[in-house]
Amino acid sequence: MISRKTIDEIMLAAKIEEVVGDFIPLKRAGKDWVGLCPFHDDKDPSLHVSPRLGIYKCFVCDSAGNSVKFLMEHEKISYPDALRYLANKYHIEIEEDKRELTPEEQAAQTEREALLGVNSFAEKFFIEQMNETETGRAIGLSYFKERGFQESTIKKFRLGYCPEGWDTFTKAALANGYKLEYLLTTGLTKQSENGKTYDFYRGRVIFPIHNASGKTVGFGGRILAKGKSDKVAKYFNSPENPIYHKSDILYGFFFARKSIRTKDNVYLVEGYTDVISMVESGVENVVASSGTALTDGQIRLISSQTKNITVLYDGDAAGIKASLRGINLLLEAGLNVKTVLLPDGEDPDSFAKSHRDSELIEYLENNATDFIRFKTHILLQGANDPIKKAAVIDEIIDTIALVKDEVTQTFYVRECAEIFQVGEDLLLTKLRKVVWKKLNAPKSGQRNFPNTAQTVQTQELPYPEKPAPVRHPKPEADTIESIEFNVVKLILKYGLYEITVEVTNKDGGSSYQPMRIDQHIFNEFASEEIRFHNPLYQTFYEEYARIAEHSATQEELIHSFVNHPDKLIQNLTIPILMDENPEYSKIWKKRYDVFTPSTDNNIEKLNAEVEYLINLFKVRLIEESKKILIKELAEDHPEKIQRDIMKRLTEMDQMRMYYANLTRTVITK
Ligand code: CTP
Ligand code: MN
Repeated sequence: MISRKTIDEIMLAAKIEEVVGDFIPLKRAGKDWVGLCPFHDDKDPSLHVSPRLGIYKCFVCDSAGNSVKFLMEHEKISYPDALRYLANKYHIEIEEDKRELTPEEQAAQTEREALLGVNSFAEKFFIEQMNETETGRAIGLSYFKERGFQESTIKKFRLGYCPEGWDTFTKAALANGYKLEYLLTTGLTKQSENGKTYDFYRGRVIFPIHNASGKTVGFGGRILAKGKSDKVAKYFNSPENPIYHKSDILYGFFFARKSIRTKDNVYLVEGYTDVISMVESGVENVVASSGTALTDGQIRLISSQTKNITVLYDGDAAGIKASLRGINLLLEAGLNVKTVLLPDGEDPDSFAKSHRDSELIEYLENNATDFIRFKTHILLQGANDPIKKAAVIDEIIDTIALVKDEVTQTFYVRECAEIFQVGEDLLLTKLRKVVWKKLNAPKSGQRNFPNTAQTVQTQELPYPEKPAPVRHPKPEADTIESIEFNVVKLILKYGLYEITVEVTNKDGGSSYQPMRIDQHIFNEFASEEIRFHNPLYQTFYEEYARIAEHSATQEELIHSFVNHPDKLIQNLTIPILMDENPEYSKIWKKRYDVFTPSTDNNIEKLNAEVEYLINLFKVRLIEESKKILIKELAEDHPEKIQRDIMKRLTEMDQMRMYYANLTRTVITK
């Protein structure tokens, strides 16, 4: 089970506009954002997203909630998976409550920890071997030095060396108490058919691979001799295992994150050495996909930090066409994509090494091309005849259709029209066709979410998967239900406000004192043992008492409710909180003919309103009790009891009159 602390951390980090914005284009509207509601067939943007409250709300179909709820509803995923998605998006390490884990979960957890322990030992071992042994320095360290890496960089990236010989590392690890089982799972040790174990990376220099939180989850090991036969792979990499999912890792990300944020851009390169050399040249916002096509997980990692990516391409154009698909994925994820083509025969590593730092930076800046231009350029090579050209146009339009932002789309269409010397209108028509086709295509399957199968299995939090919808009573119905609801609203929105109330003193007299609205309502309810009829409201009431005790400000209170673990409570409170100017009831509005939104700040009116509502509530409660008694009266009770009932009814009538009068006093005050 995901720990409360982690959930709190996730809730604090999650920005509703970013979470919703990942799926739906949002436009600013004052303090809020608006977009087309994905939960009904929306023509005008009716989905409102409030960064202040951390929630979304559709004013047409009434769906509302926080980031987690949005993901659950929109992506049809479970609560823990939504939390995992957010944890992944915001790079929050998930802490599991161990007490709650089943034995299998505990085992998985223990395994993860054991694997991380093995990797951490290995990383240290390789570093020591490289720096503190004769051969390590002569072979490993000198290799990196020859490549021009500085000591500080070698240290920063925790580069190392695994010595020659069959099992130097494996022996050391076993001697230090690490289990063979884990050495095999991480891929650090291999076992031959006859059971002999050996070091997977022997005789290679080591590039440790870190996850987003800096934990060593895998290794890349490079062969030393350059001219060696092609039969042995240049790099050995960790196999997939419970802590290493290649598709969720970007090499260098841990070190680059801060710079990516400050520069609001990331450079994407292919390999380990490209990252390191660029960092040495002062370009720190750089990550590598490690020679494979970008995955959804990697793109999510990037877009959690920036919406701008610059893809660096080696000068040899061979692989470029194949990698264009990767760009489409980036665009689909809503990123702004630029590309830089390096001069013939250069990769980022060689270019950075053969140029001054300023030259590299200048080159990157001067040669960053928006990707439409880049893709057109690549596709047009060798396409001179009109039919081929038309095919290229279609392909470019298909790509433009992936762009999330409308304005950017229009910009690209204009650019495309210029390049091909065709009318913008024609291209726009084409674009609309493509978009229309996509809209009408059957919905593709669910998006891939962080692979929960491989991470620790968690229990579902005790939430109903689909809670019964909370129906808010119609305001005009002046029933107990609606009054109760209005009390809920009042407590929630104004509980922390102070009003002046009449208090009975010890000597029997009375005086006026300032008191918080929630406190006042609580006192009133407690003294007359009032409970809400609606069990949900009663739960809310009790929860409010618990939460308000710890909340110093309205914000804290809102935060607690918006992220409340009970979905029914969320469903009840969120729409109320979204509503900036609630009207307590239609009646209320009618009686106060000057009721305006500014009432919110009008303490005097609020004062009266609270009293009115409480008294009206009491009146209705008494009426309810009366009904029960009248029913009893019709039963065949002994005379004494009948008399008692009558007496009680008379008392109630008096009480009812009393409170009814109070409501009138308030009203006419
Ligand atoms: N790669 C790999 N296995 C290989 C070759 C490449 O995993 N056999 C990955 C590595 O992550 C490598 C990246 O693809 O960093 C890019 O490959 P390449 O350009 O060939 O390597 P460089 O990073 O340029 O390495 P070097 O400069 O040391 O040759
Ligand atoms: Mn290289």
